Amino acid sequence: MTSARRALAQVVPGARRVLDENWTGSSTVPSRGLYPHQWSWDSAFIAIGSRHLSVRRAQRELETLLAAQWDDGRVPHIVYNPAVPPGAYFPGPDFWRPPPGATDAGPSGGAPPGVATSGIIQPPVHALACLLVHRADPHASQRSGFLARTYPRLAAWHRYLADRRDLGGGGLVSVVHPWEPGMDNSPCWDAPLARVEPAPPEAFRRADLDHGAAADRPTDLDYGRYVRLAADYRDGGYEDRADALGFVVEDPGVNALLIASEHALAEIARTVGADPRPHRARAARLTAALLDRLWDPATGLFLCRDVRGGDLIPERSAAGLLPLLVPELPRATAGALLRTATGEHFGLGTSVRLVPSYDLRGHAFDPARYWRGPAWFNVNWLLERGLRLHGASPEADALRSAALEAAAASGFAEYVDPYTEEPRGTRDFSWTAALALDLAVAADG
Ligand code: SER
Repeated sequence: MTSARRALAQVVPGARRVLDENWTGSSTVPSRGLYPHQWSWDSAFIAIGSRHLSVRRAQRELETLLAAQWDDGRVPHIVYNPAVPPGAYFPGPDFWRPPPGATDAGPSGGAPPGVATSGIIQPPVHALACLLVHRADPHASQRSGFLARTYPRLAAWHRYLADRRDLGGGGLVSVVHPWEPGMDNSPCWDAPLARVEPAPPEAFRRADLDHGAAADRPTDLDYGRYVRLAADYRDGGYEDRADALGFVVEDPGVNALLIASEHALAEIARTVGADPRPHRARAARLTAALLDRLWDPATGLFLCRDVRGGDLIPERSAAGLLPLLVPELPRATAGALLRTATGEHFGLGTSVRLVPSYDLRGHAFDPARYWRGPAWFNVNWLLERGLRLHGASPEADALRSAALEAAAASGFAEYVDPYTEEPRGTRDFSWTAALALDLAVAADG
């Protein structure tokens, strides 16, 4: 048996076991120990894989998340499981409750009654996930009314992002906390975060270190700043005002995922008999703004923009490659991104088999520490899709085989050392299992 076939044979039963063990009955925890609640973009990736096991379960995953949508349209990044002890994860549900008198839509006014959520967001992969879940069995999906139910929620979610999160005024969505783009301790945030006064260490207790090696996780200093930013946003009643927030960044990954999801939403609209044109028009506007505001020809990469400081952030993150998911990317830009992915900074197919989260040559590169170098399976799944979209099939095929092998060999690790593919972070991680399953089904088909 070739190693690729062996990986395939291991991936399907292994991924099923992980997804079954992490399923709670209404959603899937990313990891039983480290992340014992429901996470927004995790659930989207999980549903993309679990649709191959049970379309109903994948629908339920997404609908549980969307049921926690705030009345301003935001989809919160965590939906808390009330059965989990309060100290099992920090920050817990009480952290996000705004003080009396805070303005605007705090969790009391914004979240549906009876649901405890965080107040920040994660990347909008949900419309793409809903479309892929629908496509797994269009007739059953049609019969159950899945898209008809999710379309208005997805449309309100994208409206929130477009109307309330264009904090730079140039037509892109901004994130207001390093947890929002999902790449918590990316070196891209070092400069904007340096302006943030950390919360004192005695103000909180990290629960993540009970489950993960300290060398694989963000530092205490990072955590102090995360806590300060989240508390300030909460105390301001979750008002999205650039001048009141300490961290405001335009991230190419978040915006590329929104564009891909806006295209998916156009398709969903068409399927449910709504007008797809506003979604296509928004995708086109976002694409133009992405190229205008974040493309950096000198590095051949999309960079992050520090909205408060005004400049592009001179750090190379894998988020800058994610615009390969944008269908209307100019051919020359897609070509430049492919050269950057395979060049010395990301080394795809040359020095590494999986794209690292951060510049292999970067001053802050660390092969073990969370988003400062390790290779993550969701990023690589997205890039595989983007490479295929832009005609780079040999590179996509190689990436798919490598991701399947690494997922199986690492025990479905949260992330791996990009050079050695040694497991890092936690194991039996749900999106690693789900996305490996999705790649395995595609490789088999
Ligand atoms: N990624 C964060 C954590 O590590 C939260 O979203 O807990």
